Amino acid sequence: MTTGAAIEARKLARILPGLIPVTLVDGIDFMAKPGELVAITGASGSGKSSLLYLLGLLDEPTSGSVIIDGIDSASLTDAQRTHLRLERLGFVFQFHFLLPEFSVLDNVCMPMKKLNALPEQAQAERGRMLLKDLGLEGSEKKLPEQLSGGERQRVAVARALANAPSILLADEPTGNLDSKNSHAVFDIFRRLTRQDGKTIIAVTHDQELASACDRQVHLADGQVV
Ligand SMILES: Nc1ncnc2c1ncn2[C@@H]1O[C@H](COP(=O)(O)OP(=O)(O)OP(=O)(O)O)[C@@H](O)[C@H]1O
Ligand SMILES: [Mg+2]
Repeated sequence: MTTGAAIEARKLARILPGLIPVTLVDGIDFMAKPGELVAITGASGSGKSSLLYLLGLLDEPTSGSVIIDGIDSASLTDAQRTHLRLERLGFVFQFHFLLPEFSVLDNVCMPMKKLNALPEQAQAERGRMLLKDLGLEGSEKKLPEQLSGGERQRVAVARALANAPSILLADEPTGNLDSKNSHAVFDIFRRLTRQDGKTIIAVTHDQELASACDRQVHLADGQVV
């Protein structure tokens, strides 16, 4: 069944087994369309990160499924799932997780290296283009520590875009940024969704940023409310 969704969750659940099982995600139905910017909100511990990790195929659901561009991830082998993730999904986290000993350009090219769909020369060219597009021209050879917090997060966005994913998942991408840089990141998200048709799902605690998204999904106790 095709629904026109870029990404979809059906009755998605993640329960940690144990003497007292812990329910992180409790039967969530969710979908986002191409070009949509969706905010996920909710109190600390409501399951936002857990949901994002499931949507991003970084964690395995206990039950339910994640469907990406019409492909049911449950039907794939581990290797196919990893490939799907590298090809279609980009991630931005609260902490940039850039590799400190690698240049800005090498950090951006890392996902391209892993996917290995482009020759090395073309990877570097694409990396430079992405950096330029995010206002980071001239920083290619710098180390992450030589950049400001806002610049580092834009490098992380460039890296997330490396393999031209159709979907970006961001977990509190502005959690460490001041208001000006937070708005800059969301302006980039806005442009990526409106102009490039990407789907972006961003967890945020910032109600002002959440309100500026196309839609808000509010979680409580692992459920959409
Ligand atoms: N590995 C784990 N073992 C046990 N409990 C966990 C584990 N991971 C998450 N939890 C619990 O599951 C619930 C959901 O966690 P999650 O990290 O998804 O929340 P969150 O909404 O992202 O919170 P925050 O806003 O603080 O980032 C929390 O109560 C958390 O303590
Ligand atoms: Mg979280």
